[in-house]
Amino acid sequence: MIYIKTAEDIEKMRIACDLVSRTLGEVAKWIEPGVTTFRLDTIAREFILDNGGKPSCLGYHGFPGTLCIEVNDTVVHGFPSDYALREGDIIGTDCVVEINGFNGDSCYTFAVGDVDEKTLNLMKVTKESLYKGIEAAKEGKRIGDISNAVQTYCERHGYSVVREMCGHGIGKSMHEDPEVPNYGRRGIGPVLKNGMCIAIEPMINLGSKNIKISQEDGWTCRTRDGKPSAHYEHTIVINGEEPEILTTFDYIEAALKEKGLK
Ligand code: MF3
Ligand code: CO
Repeated sequence: MIYIKTAEDIEKMRIACDLVSRTLGEVAKWIEPGVTTFRLDTIAREFILDNGGKPSCLGYHGFPGTLCIEVNDTVVHGFPSDYALREGDIIGTDCVVEINGFNGDSCYTFAVGDVDEKTLNLMKVTKESLYKGIEAAKEGKRIGDISNAVQTYCERHGYSVVREMCGHGIGKSMHEDPEVPNYGRRGIGPVLKNGMCIAIEPMINLGSKNIKISQEDGWTCRTRDGKPSAHYEHTIVINGEEPEILTTFDYIEAALKEKGLK
């Protein structure tokens, strides 16, 4: 069941998406060698609560964090922990916020200090692929058009697309129909209609596409080959020829600029 949002719903989506974007902007300020992922998680949780929101991931099927923490070879769903970030790491922080009954979902992958060129390029291409997917998200097109745009772009650069995890519809629930895979054929899947809200989230690997889920915690998803994976996510609403991006990386980018990074 795909829910089409009313103008009023979309206004509430904007508020939730702005809050999750500002939350990641706060997290961005603290990304540096030595900071633990617990600390990042606490910063996010307190910021959301201080602003009247609810951390949607916390307690979701028992998930223990406000943020999903994705260090280096972790693709998605890592737990906050006492791990202290090291120079050369990359870290994705994936966050969902609920406020006024609606959810906003976003993810950004950061470099910790100096990161090798190959990994920086993976991050760059993954972020660009998100915008390729968004460009394809026009009224009357299909989910497969988004999927194919992401896949084609990443594979052309020699990277591989994780198959097991997808983007998704979003609204009153953080995961709604339809699924939004990051691979697939053009012209297949549900038709995009104005007022549909979806989260597009390429999860792209430097090496092979294969992943494994931790036997220990049942959640943490890592690359099989131990090579890095990058992840960026926006929540958008279908709106004719010009999808509206409801989340923004502006707060993150302003925070990074403030620290003299880009
Ligand atoms: N933010 C994730 C997504 O993009 C969902 C996290 S699942 C949870 O779909 F269990 F960690 F909450
Ligand atoms: Co998502």
